[in-house]
Amino acid sequence: MPRAAITSVGHYVPETVYPNSYFEQYLDTSDAWIVERTGIRERRFACNGATSDLIIPAARQCLERRGISAEDIDCIIVATVTPDYFFPSTAAVVQRKLGATRAWGFDLSAACSGFIYALVVAAKLVEAGFSRRLLLCGADKMSSIVNFDDRATAVLFGDGGGVVLLEPSDNPDVGVLDAVLYMNGEGGQYLYMPAGGSAKPPSLETVQNKEHYVFQEGRTVFKEAVIRMAEVTLQIMERNGLRAEDIAWLVPHQANLRIITATAERMGLSMDKVMVNIDRYGNTTAATIPLCLSEWYQAGKLDYGDRLILVSFGAGYTWGAVYLRWSLPKPD
Ligand code: ACO
Repeated sequence: MPRAAITSVGHYVPETVYPNSYFEQYLDTSDAWIVERTGIRERRFACNGATSDLIIPAARQCLERRGISAEDIDCIIVATVTPDYFFPSTAAVVQRKLGATRAWGFDLSAACSGFIYALVVAAKLVEAGFSRRLLLCGADKMSSIVNFDDRATAVLFGDGGGVVLLEPSDNPDVGVLDAVLYMNGEGGQYLYMPAGGSAKPPSLETVQNKEHYVFQEGRTVFKEAVIRMAEVTLQIMERNGLRAEDIAWLVPHQANLRIITATAERMGLSMDKVMVNIDRYGNTTAATIPLCLSEWYQAGKLDYGDRLILVSFGAGYTWGAVYLRWSLPKPD
């Protein structure tokens, strides 16, 4: 069975930057609080467009870097909690906008773990020979579901999109090598969007009660995230015989710098081996990990054969880790 290898990457963030000082103007918050408690200094918000519009420029960059066209893609998976519509899927919208006429595809919902979950599904499709050129997109327009009057959530999120191309590789030493995924539905009550789905369809009342926004019991989610991110990372290291010195990069979901630091500490990994861009983008949900991968690739900081651990924790609760060896040389 071939391995599924990442053969190209791309990313996109909106141009408009919202520094912490933006929230200081109208909320009871401060730059000092936000930086100290989260590590976030600024984020980007899309003034126009939908989640698919965050994906298209990232997808074009990804295809261009690989030197292929949209018609070469045979499958599109979009991980997101902010789809353009309930239906059709954002994957179908992306297919049309990109002109990927030969592709089938679907959306996958696992919140902040969306990219990790989708990467595992995508890798299995490629390993099984069911897809040969799979476009895996992680994107969220969090500004469309965040209550800008709620200081506890407004400052945390940002908009962005990241895309990777997965192809089969006959080299057994590179590509997606192992993964561990978990879910605990008991955590659903601490991080969710109360209305808009079939459990509570939209009504005048749900709008008035502001139930179409992210609800989060931050402290509860934080405690669980710290435990689970470290636990699953240590588990994947142990079962693959990996020591901290074997790992080139930890690629954590970017929800809170303190969660990231705690995970690295438990691994015995110094922070210069951890991808961090939360300071510039905030939590872009399904986009954080592919955004990191694309930025680090672009900066020439990823090399062929590098051992990476990708790890995330998010609503559901959902969490998991992927062990992969990087399959691209540094860019010219
Ligand atoms: N500015 C100033 N004060 C604030 C702000 C703010 N923006 N937000 C909250 N506070 C206040 C609170 O009201 C509280 O005040 P009180 O003590 O008087 O009640 C105080 O700060 C402490 O609040 P906590 O919620 O305990 O603050 P904490 O240190 O836990 O930080 C945060 C909050 C950043 C949300 C943190 O809990 C966190 O990162 N949680 C996990 C996030 C996460 O990983 N989510 C999963 C992924 S997201 C997804 O799946 C979509």
